[in-house]
Amino acid sequence: MKKSLLFLIIVIVSCYTSMSQPPMGQAQTNQPPDIFISLGTQNTDLVYKVNGRNGKVYQAYLGSKLLNTASLSQLRDAGHQAYQTYGNENLFEPAIRMTHNDGNPSLELKYVSHNSEKTDANTTLTKILLKDPVYPVEVTLNIRSFAAEDVLEQWVEIVQKEAKPVKIYNYASSMLHFDADKYWLTQFHGDWAEEMKMQESELTSGIKIIDTKLGTRAHMYQTPVFFLSFNEKSDETTGELIAGTLGWSGNFQLLFELDEKNSLRAISGINPFASEYSLQPGKVFKTPSFIFTYSDKGKGLASRNLHRWARNYGVLDGNKTRLTLLNNWETTYFAFDEPKLTGLLDDTKKMGLDLFLLDDGWFANKYPRNNDRAGLGDWQENKAKLPNGLGYLVKEADAKGVKFGIWIEPEMVNPKSELYENHPDWVLRFPNRQEVYYRNQLTLDLTNPKVQEFVYNMVDEMLTKNPGIAFIKWDCNSMITNPYSAFLKDQQSHLYIDYVNNLYSVLDRLRKKYPSLPIMLCSGGGGRVDYGALRYFTEFWASDDTDPLERVYIQWGYSYFFPAISVCNHITSWGKQSLKFKTDVAMMGKMGYDIQINELNEKELKFSQDAIVNYKRLSDVIWHGDLYRLISPYEENRAVLMYVNNNRSKAVLFAYTLNSRYGEAFNRVRLQGLDPAKTYKIQEINPSTEGRRPGPPSEGGSSVRSYTGDYLMKVGLSVGSATPLTSAVFEITE
Ligand code: DGJ
Repeated sequence: MKKSLLFLIIVIVSCYTSMSQPPMGQAQTNQPPDIFISLGTQNTDLVYKVNGRNGKVYQAYLGSKLLNTASLSQLRDAGHQAYQTYGNENLFEPAIRMTHNDGNPSLELKYVSHNSEKTDANTTLTKILLKDPVYPVEVTLNIRSFAAEDVLEQWVEIVQKEAKPVKIYNYASSMLHFDADKYWLTQFHGDWAEEMKMQESELTSGIKIIDTKLGTRAHMYQTPVFFLSFNEKSDETTGELIAGTLGWSGNFQLLFELDEKNSLRAISGINPFASEYSLQPGKVFKTPSFIFTYSDKGKGLASRNLHRWARNYGVLDGNKTRLTLLNNWETTYFAFDEPKLTGLLDDTKKMGLDLFLLDDGWFANKYPRNNDRAGLGDWQENKAKLPNGLGYLVKEADAKGVKFGIWIEPEMVNPKSELYENHPDWVLRFPNRQEVYYRNQLTLDLTNPKVQEFVYNMVDEMLTKNPGIAFIKWDCNSMITNPYSAFLKDQQSHLYIDYVNNLYSVLDRLRKKYPSLPIMLCSGGGGRVDYGALRYFTEFWASDDTDPLERVYIQWGYSYFFPAISVCNHITSWGKQSLKFKTDVAMMGKMGYDIQINELNEKELKFSQDAIVNYKRLSDVIWHGDLYRLISPYEENRAVLMYVNNNRSKAVLFAYTLNSRYGEAFNRVRLQGLDPAKTYKIQEINPSTEGRRPGPPSEGGSSVRSYTGDYLMKVGLSVGSATPLTSAVFEITE
């Protein structure tokens, strides 16, 4: 690291300025020297080479740390331009494409300068300035390296100084090149209640695109994350790969193009679909960030890198604690009143939970929000349900010793609402076509400053009036169904981009005033989960599907890219499995409840109260520890994973048996991440309310046993039973 930094400082001083290309055959001595820009982390190097011959910047290397800086000068560039333009020698998918004022559709980018600055002890920001030699267009490649986490973040800034606006058609955040024998792409797709289904396939010649055009609730079908494995498929502990994700809460595009030489380019950014952007002279077009990590030890390490990065930099308050809660969505839907809610506050307390979260249905009077067909947008307490307002509930909660949280969906409107009646021009809709609805609602036009003000004020006024509100669930249940903004007039192709940027600016304002209020990101389940949004949110609702069998897969999927502290899992009445199974599944992330507490029998209530105590004791390891996925539900009839804290003194292991065939043997599981020299106590917690589980007892048993870390990692443990839909949780203590 130190060596490469020193090298960087040297190359900054020898900044290349000449843009002229020496004629063929000219003596090499007149040619400016090649410059190497090394963007290393602790274990990774990304190296760009400025070719002295033509002044262009190429990606020369991406992989494990090069131990000898002398190797840098031996790197070839293989023609892989770092930010490939259109209209020049490039005949494949470009990172950037624009048309100049004179109609010329080409761009050429040459190196001007670069500099590298340490933003803190762990983080270095490198800016590489590129310029078109003919047109006044500047592009800055930004690369932030997070040394300890082995994560790189890339984004781009585009500025033009022509007389009039310039149209840009492509504006990638990142372009990466690879030369391997084979490429395996792992993607995650789904729908409402079936998020994050993993699929892996070998890339073939041509283009593969993962994208969305949904605008809002943008990730309902595709999540902006991927693994790209090189040569062979990778597994948890072996294989070379990158794990990448785009921090953008709107339309995204991840494009993989395999060319005739078997070189692959991966281009990540905002989806250019219907989004050509008219860039005003002097204005900066800033792309969202592409975040990635390289691993030569499989997907497990890649996930741990991203999780650490996310806790330190990607998720709001990722290193802090979270509130356990009781939510009322599944138990009451829209049918509640003050006495009912007061009872739920009591239940929250009785369970030992921190907070009660009041969901949808508490607002609107002219068109009361008694179902999803009316009231959205009218954010006044419904007088029939809450005659004493939110303030009363906040006070009641306080008196009972619990906190109070509230659901909102401020970006949306039902046509049956006063908001729609009073401000039809604030709604995304075509002026001359019938409206198309999703969940009976429409999206507000956040490109309009008046709407931004409305959304900000709605949240701000609610929090000012009720300073005791300790939690928000921010929902977004519709995609953009009628993509037309009255405000944008003749710049409709700015809609998808401006919407997201303006959502972020509203959230920026709110976060300035309320920096640490926990807010759950929700979008009809996990329809909007990405690191662009998570800068403002402490956690996200992973899915409306809370059947714990399905949930194992959904949570497993998210675990590849998002840390456990950010993934909200609730115990509900979905699924016929035991309360223990539901509880054990919810515990692997941020646990909560959305179940009729008054229907729990005495044993179940006691089991839940104890489980919450256990969870609170273990949550530090789950939220802040390292995740090791041991057995994948995609490969076996069970799922086993564990979290280990930083100094390897405490761990927790979850084992879920999903199914089993007659005579199927579940072999011992070798643990990971422990200290081989330490001796650990293993204790099974959350014992079943039905007494001992059927089937062979696991070695943890109900009694405490001791093993060395070495034994646990080499010999392993039998965990869980062969009975379908059973589970076991082990607390592992030095
Ligand atoms: C969708 C969310 O995912 C649910 O949890 C719930 O909040 C409903 N919206 C409320 O309308």
